[in-house]
Amino acid sequence: MQDLNVTPAAPSPPAQPVAIGALRRLKILCISEVGWLDNATLLADITAAGGMNVNQYELPWPPFGELHADNAAGSSALIEAETVAGERHRVLFDTGWNPAWMERRFAEEGVDRLLAEGAIDCLVISHEHFDHFWGIGAALKHCPSLPIYIPEGFHQEGLDLIKRLGHTGPVITVPAQQPITLFPGCALVQFPMQTLLQVQGENVLYFGIQNKGLAMVTGCGHGGVLNLLEYARRTFVGGERLYAVYGGLHIAPFEDWNADKDRLIDALAAYRIEHFGCNHCTGATAVQKMLAAGLPVVRGSAQHGSKTDLFLGNGDVLELSAEGA
Ligand SMILES: [Fe+2]
Ligand SMILES: [Fe+2]
Repeated sequence: MQDLNVTPAAPSPPAQPVAIGALRRLKILCISEVGWLDNATLLADITAAGGMNVNQYELPWPPFGELHADNAAGSSALIEAETVAGERHRVLFDTGWNPAWMERRFAEEGVDRLLAEGAIDCLVISHEHFDHFWGIGAALKHCPSLPIYIPEGFHQEGLDLIKRLGHTGPVITVPAQQPITLFPGCALVQFPMQTLLQVQGENVLYFGIQNKGLAMVTGCGHGGVLNLLEYARRTFVGGERLYAVYGGLHIAPFEDWNADKDRLIDALAAYRIEHFGCNHCTGATAVQKMLAAGLPVVRGSAQHGSKTDLFLGNGDVLELSAEGA
């Protein structure tokens, strides 16, 4: 399976290092890591539609049609942060794919109630891929005014979907490589990239954990996990201490493997990151290789529809704090 990720050369850092600020605590709840249930079904659907370069909106998957709706799940996380000043913030990171699946997962984790209470600051869409964005209706029905951050490069069909769902809040396009401070301790950065099904641009979150270092949260990591880590190292105050990574590392989501990927694992190990929480976009083979190389992968519980404990799965939590390990 050809990857099709195209990323520009590593961006140049700003003239002055950017200070993110610091958190006392960061809790990442995996609402759903299961993008889809079966790779072969997904790939057959894409091939029948014309291949990896077609516009994803040509595929009659949920919510636009019923094609293999039983294969559609999604990727989404709830991020809760406490700043060193004691402020609390919540960010919904992606909204999964199948609205029916996401509605169930939001209800099981109490996210529907938090949305209805206005207790979530904003929604960050990492990128426009179906499995991270098309479930947005399951979130907006509980909070139509939710501010939404999208990457530069969104398609008109994606903007139309947001509008058609009755969204009343702001839609903010994150410009490339200009970090936005969402709150002290949290920066949002957009990386230009082009990837399969004509998707462009990916938003990545970076957090400062007091006494520990930086944490990076990605959706798929299409920009290349090493590029995204290197950007942090060169851009942020304290970037020489990369402490944790959560999300998709996009190493082998379709379980293909080659020597370049072995070298990528070696390069990843050199950062001496202390916690990895991986989702399906990383690939199970990749996580097995990471474990074999001694990388500190946080295992999941394989519950609520997750199929493997290699990924930090549905309902699992990664908690980082100024104190403790
Ligand atoms: Fe993706
Ligand atoms: Fe993904």
